[in-house]
Amino acid sequence: MGISIGKIKLKNPVMAASGTFGYAKEFEGLVDLKKLGAIVTKTITIKPRPGNPMPRVCETASGMLNAIGLQNEGVEDFIEEKLPYLSKIGVPIIVSISGDSIKEFCGLAKRLDKEKGVAGIELNISCPNIKRQGLIAQDKNATYELAKKVREKTSKTLITKLSPNVTDIVEIAKAACKAGTDAVSLVNTFLGMAIDIETGKPRLANITGGLSGPAIKPIALRMVWEVARNIKKPVIGMGGIMTADDAIEFLLAGAKAVQVGTANFIEPGVCEKIIKGVEKWKKTR
Ligand SMILES: Cc1cc2nc3c(=O)[nH]c(=O)nc-3n(C[C@H](O)[C@H](O)[C@H](O)COP(=O)(O)O)c2cc1C
Repeated sequence: MGISIGKIKLKNPVMAASGTFGYAKEFEGLVDLKKLGAIVTKTITIKPRPGNPMPRVCETASGMLNAIGLQNEGVEDFIEEKLPYLSKIGVPIIVSISGDSIKEFCGLAKRLDKEKGVAGIELNISCPNIKRQGLIAQDKNATYELAKKVREKTSKTLITKLSPNVTDIVEIAKAACKAGTDAVSLVNTFLGMAIDIETGKPRLANITGGLSGPAIKPIALRMVWEVARNIKKPVIGMGGIMTADDAIEFLLAGAKAVQVGTANFIEPGVCEKIIKGVEKWKKTR
């Protein structure tokens, strides 16, 4: 079950996805945290961010929309308050980062590079819920430039998280790899919206949000397959994984590891179940 992503050694290929597992303490007692392959923490930024106005989540057919807007307490709070707990769990901690400029991403990478408890960094260039003209992950040149600059600031394993809200995800994945990223993870959420027909108003205060859960799985799977057959670096697949069978589909499509997101909200112990199922499947192969 063991795999490597860059310099990180994982005891199994199942990780908790950013933003759906908090900073792990929230899941203490609900899942045996030591069993996870890795934990990707909620995206942090240099300074605290309040996030978007509420309501910022709503349920849709076979999925959910969210527009959290990267609410977090900032990097210094993360290092002082969250990292000590995370470091003691005994699984690799991958810290998801975001910023409004290349300078902010680089500042975060440099700051985290000094921290022993951080195994890797995931670049969230694909959050659809922040007010900016287009995403970095929608532009291959911007993706290359950002990943290259961040690469210069850290020797930690670097993962670039891609957006599905693009015409050709392969060209973005290639740009991230060329810039020196160790792996790509995909997909972040699909931009969507829902309207309450009683009030006539959007169900999210942000109007639009990111769609996740089983509804997106076939599209995410197709994108993972497309990227995996076109790049040499490891691909971490996600999007609608609810069961071990779903995870196995992603592994068969070419992913080296998977991340589990929305499923954690429905069943907090789901990662452990998925790990058991994948292990059983590997034994029979
Ligand atoms: C409520 C919520 C919050 C999320 N927050 C983040 C985040 O902070 N950073 C990030 O990179 N992805 C975030 N995501 C995206 C997930 O990590 C994942 O890419 C996406 O939901 C697809 O996987 P899933 O269908 O298994 O949830 C969030 C998803 C949800 C549902």
